[in-house]
Amino acid sequence: MHVHRLERIWMTFGIVALVIFLGVLGTAAISEGIVPPSHIQTIDPTKVVTTPPFNNPGLRKIGENEYEAYILAQYPAFTPHEISIPAGAKVTFFTTSSDVVHGFFITNTDVNLMVVPGWVSTATHVFRSPGQYLLLCNEYCGREHHYMYGTIEVR
Ligand code: CUA
Repeated sequence: MHVHRLERIWMTFGIVALVIFLGVLGTAAISEGIVPPSHIQTIDPTKVVTTPPFNNPGLRKIGENEYEAYILAQYPAFTPHEISIPAGAKVTFFTTSSDVVHGFFITNTDVNLMVVPGWVSTATHVFRSPGQYLLLCNEYCGREHHYMYGTIEVR
């Protein structure tokens, strides 16, 4: 089979680039222990419901229009199911799962987390405009996956 010289150069470039990228990724993951950016804390998934703060999930006010929201993802629901905050509120979400992998996506924001048992995922968002934001599980987690949602009311 004849492969054109330019095509061979291009293929070599592609393979070399792939090897470099995988090398960088592998080195970072193995030697520096790099994990997805939102996964900063670990938790025993079998004891989530008895481990603070997830034994008492909900919204905590931590400053002037600043909140922390602890939301437990447990098939097929988020607890709490609804939160209500004033416009302009800065909310840091902490979420974890006690069973399987779930998604944590808030419509019209950049909050989109993977909720993995054993890890606490976090994201911060400032809700500038009033309205209702939908919190959706966007990882298929079971037969009732499509019922797994919540609402964030911005007053
Ligand atoms: Cu939880 Cu889909």
